[in-house]
Parts: sequence; C-alpha cells; structure tokens
Amino acid sequence: ENHDHHDGQDDHELRVSKIRSGTVIDHVRGGQALNVLAILGIDGTDGEEISIGMNVPSDRFARKDIVKVEGRELSQDEVDVLSLIAPDATINIIREYEVVEKHRVERPDVVEGVLSCPNSACISTGDEPVASRFEVLDDGVRCAYCETIVRDEIPSLIDT
Ligand code: CTP
Ligand code: ZN
Repeated sequence: ENHDHHDGQDDHELRVSKIRSGTVIDHVRGGQALNVLAILGIDGTDGEEISIGMNVPSDRFARKDIVKVEGRELSQDEVDVLSLIAPDATINIIREYEVVEKHRVERPDVVEGVLSCPNSACISTGDEPVASRFEVLDDGVRCAYCETIVRDEIPSLIDT
C-alpha cells in the first residue's frame, strides 16, 4: 500500500483542515455530505464548528465527501443511521489532533424518529404524536406502521 497517497489528503493538498478534537466522517458517497448533517440533526444553528468537503478526489471511490464536526464525539448509535445513506463511511474520533478511534458504520435493525414516512395516510405522519419507525432491509427501509418500502429515495425521507 502506498502511504504517500492518502485519498488526496496529503498535507500539500489537504482540502479541509485537520481538526483538534471531534469526529471526522470520511468516505461518504460524493454528494451526500449535506444529507449526513441532516440525518445527524446538525444544521449549524447551535454554533457547531463544521467543515465539509464535497466531491473531493479519493482512491477508494472516484469522489467522496468528508464531514468534520469539531468538539463533539458522535456515538455509534448516532452514526449507524448514516449507514443508510453512507454505507462505506469511516468514523474517526479525534483527540488532540490524533485519530484515537476508527470504525465503520453498521446497519441498524430499526431507525426511529429520523426518517418520515412518505405515505400521507400513515399514522406516523398524521396529527397523532407517533414517532416514525422504519425497519432496515438489505436494500431499503420499511415503515413499521404502514409497511411502505423505500429503496432509492431514502435521502428524501430525512426529517429536517
Ligand atoms: N483528520 C482530521 N483531523 C485530524 C486527524 C485526521 O481531519 N486531527 C482526518 C484526515 O484528514 C482523514 C481522516 O481524518 O480524512 C482519517 O485520518 P487518518 O486515519 O490519518 O487518514 P487515512 O489513513 O487516510 O484514513 P483511512 O485509512 O480511513 O482512509
Ligand atoms: Zn408509514
């Protein structure tokens, strides 16, 4: 393996500055970075320090996105839901500029309160205070209430 060529992230061509402490979500599919933030419920209004690189050159994919969240270590539960839109993402926990943990996202069995059902007749989208609940399939998600299955349009279900 050629360690001189880290995904176009060599120091002389680093697109997004290193962070001091927090979480780096790397190897996100090109174009999905804003959906990553949406699914994590991060919109910047709480003053979070966020850096985003979109469609940067990568060895593993032609292009990748990268999201850096300063000052916050995301939990495994928080990042697992990312597997629905960024199945190959790597989660790096950073402390004092060093990567102290690196793990992959894992597909959860169930996702609650993150996506909203596209079926307007579904009990989870009505006036009742019913949190959305989707079972995760190999190739999509299924509403636990009305059994609507969504495969390719998951980003459009992200509840912002
Ligand atoms: N990173 C960062 N700030 C730091 C340390 C690392 O933003 N203080 C970023 C790097 O730029 C990289 C990611 O975190 O995008 C993972 O860092 P590292 O494990 O050093 O890079 P690679 O070996 O290229 O990672 P991988 O093998 O997962 O591709
Ligand atoms: Zn439903």
